[in-house]
Amino acid sequence: MKTNFNVYITRSILPDGIDLLQPTCNVTIYEAENTISKKEIMMNASHADALLCMLTDSIDDEIISALPKLKVISNYAVGYNNIDLESAKKNNVIVTNTPAVLTETTAETAFALMIACSRRIVESDRWLRSNRFDGWAPMLFLGHDLHQKILGIIGLGRIGKALARRAFHGFDMKILYNDVSRDVEFEKEYKATFVSKEELLTQSDFVSLHTPLTPTTKHLIGKTELSIMKSTACLINTSRGPIVDELALIEALKTKKNFSAGLDVFEEEPTIPKELFALDNVVLLPHIGSASFETRSKMSIMAAQNILHVFAGKEPLSRVI
Ligand code: DGY
Repeated sequence: MKTNFNVYITRSILPDGIDLLQPTCNVTIYEAENTISKKEIMMNASHADALLCMLTDSIDDEIISALPKLKVISNYAVGYNNIDLESAKKNNVIVTNTPAVLTETTAETAFALMIACSRRIVESDRWLRSNRFDGWAPMLFLGHDLHQKILGIIGLGRIGKALARRAFHGFDMKILYNDVSRDVEFEKEYKATFVSKEELLTQSDFVSLHTPLTPTTKHLIGKTELSIMKSTACLINTSRGPIVDELALIEALKTKKNFSAGLDVFEEEPTIPKELFALDNVVLLPHIGSASFETRSKMSIMAAQNILHVFAGKEPLSRVI
């Protein structure tokens, strides 16, 4: 039965979640190919009881205060640094996200970047397409192994652990990790060692970042941190761009020729510094960490269910505040 609840969705997503909302809610979708503007959200969603929004939408106090009926902001992402939580709290608006369903897929993306960087997959594909391959050669595109190397994980949440599982069981890698607290069970299961950030950076062959973006994690990896990493190390970022000081990273990639980076996220998305394009020791992805059909379908369902739970007066599946 239809209710009077209005849901505004700020971008086209896989239909699975929309199909759950349609029977009982009035659903409006911003169907353009581009990111919706702030002005359009305030205009189009003025009657919305729920906003299903993307990580590219900055949901600030001006927007939240302009939507008087708003009960829930359902973020189509695990990260929620795009939402002003203080304002949501002040306006009695619930905020939800989509954790867990995207864990394995994002860990796969991080692992794909580790392999791509260390075995120079993208660079050699580009080279071959330029018609320069004239047969096997003993020194052609030598890279570095992953197996039995040291993987340092900064931020041991679900995705960090899923990456550790792949590295430990599939590639016999030694795991170091750093977080605000220790996880003794994890240490036992993966023979992992808790170390300081500095130790992790100096000892690891691969460093993968899995912290949320907060004021304390901004530029967690900057000039000093990059300078103590091994000259052959590989830095992977599938979390949020501003966690790495991009200018310092570009400098490190230019000066340390055997250093590499795999980036799925950038400081000022969608703007990518042109200097990165010119470097062969970096692999660049357009923020596709969770972009599989299976996972985006689960995210669509979870984002919708969070809204339906709030409308039904129940606790949402995944509440941020
Ligand atoms: C997230 O959920 O935070 C991811 O970045 C989306 O792909």
